[in-house]
Amino acid sequence: MRKRYLAPLVMSALLFAACGGDTKPEQKASDSHENAAVDNSMVSPNAGKPASKGETLMAQNDCKTCHKEEMKVVGPALKDIAGKYPNTPENVDHLADKVIKGGSGNWGEVAMLPHPNVSKEDAKEMVSYILSLSGK
Ligand code: HEC
Repeated sequence: MRKRYLAPLVMSALLFAACGGDTKPEQKASDSHENAAVDNSMVSPNAGKPASKGETLMAQNDCKTCHKEEMKVVGPALKDIAGKYPNTPENVDHLADKVIKGGSGNWGEVAMLPHPNVSKEDAKEMVSYILSLSGK
């Protein structure tokens, strides 16, 4: 007897959950899209273009805490890195390792923190994006 009364309740609870589940990721997606768009507007070479995978990955990691596009912060400006290393597979590979292992010495005494949770593939995406920024 009680079950009969419960059934509609459970059903509507499920429906409610389904609706909540539907709208939330959508909101999140558009939020992060807006953020990416704001970022893009400050980036002259990529202005108007959708964020590349590497750029998105950098935003999702802590890279932007220490690296800005045009300006040295804790780490070198991304454009300076792009200017220092030609965009070759060897450099992408080597720098991807450096992102994962961290280290210092190429730009000064300040060390980059290691990023052991970043996969080699993702690190390469990010480095390819950085090296694509030289734009000259
Ligand atoms: C704690 C601050 C910090 C964070 C966070 C950080 N970096 Fe760095 N990064 C540095 C510093 C400092 C250097 C310069 C190291 C050196 O002198 O060799 C550097 C150097 C680099 C270089 C050039 C390496 C070389 O050998 O010339 C690349 C590429 C790079 N970072 C990418 C990234 C990426 C991608 C991320 C995010 C996954 C990231 N960094 C996060 C501080 C940081």
